[in-house]
Amino acid sequence: MTEQLNQFQGAATIEKVASLCRRRAFVFPSSDIYGGLGSSFDFGHYGVLMNDNVKAEWRRALIQEREDVVALDSAIILQPQVWVASGHVSGFSDPLVDCRTCKLRFRADQLEQSACGRKPSKHPGETPDCDLTEPRQFNLMFETYVGPVRDDAARAYLRPETAQGIFVNFKNVVSSMRVKPPFGIAQIGKSFRNEITPGNFLFRMREFEQMEMEFFVPPDEAAEWHRYWIDARRDWHLSLGIRESHLRVRAHGVEELSHYSSATSDIEYLYPIGWQELEGVANRGDYDLRQHADASGTKLEWVGHEERYVPHVIEPAISVVRSTLAFLCDAYDEEEVAGRPRTVLRLHPRIAPVKVAVLPLIGKDTAMVEQARGLYEELRHAMSAEYDDSAAIGKRYRRQDEIGTPWALTIDEQTLEDGTVTLRDRDTLEQERIPIAGARALLEDRLRQDWRPRE
Ligand code: GAP
Repeated sequence: MTEQLNQFQGAATIEKVASLCRRRAFVFPSSDIYGGLGSSFDFGHYGVLMNDNVKAEWRRALIQEREDVVALDSAIILQPQVWVASGHVSGFSDPLVDCRTCKLRFRADQLEQSACGRKPSKHPGETPDCDLTEPRQFNLMFETYVGPVRDDAARAYLRPETAQGIFVNFKNVVSSMRVKPPFGIAQIGKSFRNEITPGNFLFRMREFEQMEMEFFVPPDEAAEWHRYWIDARRDWHLSLGIRESHLRVRAHGVEELSHYSSATSDIEYLYPIGWQELEGVANRGDYDLRQHADASGTKLEWVGHEERYVPHVIEPAISVVRSTLAFLCDAYDEEEVAGRPRTVLRLHPRIAPVKVAVLPLIGKDTAMVEQARGLYEELRHAMSAEYDDSAAIGKRYRRQDEIGTPWALTIDEQTLEDGTVTLRDRDTLEQERIPIAGARALLEDRLRQDWRPRE
């Protein structure tokens, strides 16, 4: 593993990726016509398709292809006691400082990454005018009220992690599914955090989907399973095309550990803004099950024929957006082809929002259009496909390159004569002639094959 690299290798910057995302309907600023809302984004057509692919690959690896993990979809607003017992009401906070001069608020532990309100080239506290308060804790949970009365008894929280919905369902799952430790419960769903220093496009949002899995194991196997899941999750990112030189595993120091964790390793990605957490893999020990058992009075343990214990928990946790952003940054490329610039997303075909474009060479040729429409109708039942007969063929290829479509099938004169089409490859730009009748099977086969990016 390459751990020395400190500079992102590639053409991407966060600004370029954000600009492409907006131009090509991946991501729009939220509430745009009202001036936006800090760190909230809406996903356009291609963003939705890509996020769905990321989630599908996660579900495939963590649920479908395993016998020991089951699915769950718990509520976003839970009984508020859940968050007291989990430690989030008292402990899920960031240290904040206010500047009495510029009236801005900063994370005390991230002053080095923040800009002074008066002199943005300086960090808060660096100019003589800066007047920072002592740090104080600020809870990141969004509060709301359940029911018609707005009093303390009705106060509830939007979940800041999906994990707690899993812990409070432990007993339900154990008594209704044929599971036995080691086993996992996986879920994907929205989480909400009132982040103080959002920014960097999708990297830190206030509302984001998490993909979390709690893996319950016998206590004496926890360390071994922790290593197992760090490796398994790293391999997942690599198998979907993230460059090995852009990934590293970093163990947390003791002072960095969350209140529930006995050991955590981050799988970090070298975003264009530097190494940052992509996914956390934590050993939560028996913290959560014990907290909820104590607070609820319900025993949360595994009872076997000859054994009884509170399982320990290994948790791989990632958000869809951090994963999507890493895929986009890794895939973004600019090059010159035949004297003209080309922007291309070299996404893994299974992550790419559209798998194939079907293009009649001449958009006004009725026979070509008819053949192309027929092929498109057939393909779109099997995979995400697009039909395009507008503009010159070169322009249509570039449009598909920009959204990362790995293959294009072009219907031309020869198709009408011998029933073959050209298959254009996004990365090599090679074109091969294949029988139109076998196009669907060939693409389905390629989608199943391994794919590695060009280093
Ligand atoms: N259940 C454990 C947990 O939530 P975390 O490290 O706070 O741990 C897990 O979050 C993952 O969720 C992170 O590794 C990151 O991928 C993602 N994540 C956390 N905060 C986020 C935010 N504000 N915006 C986008 N993704 C975030």
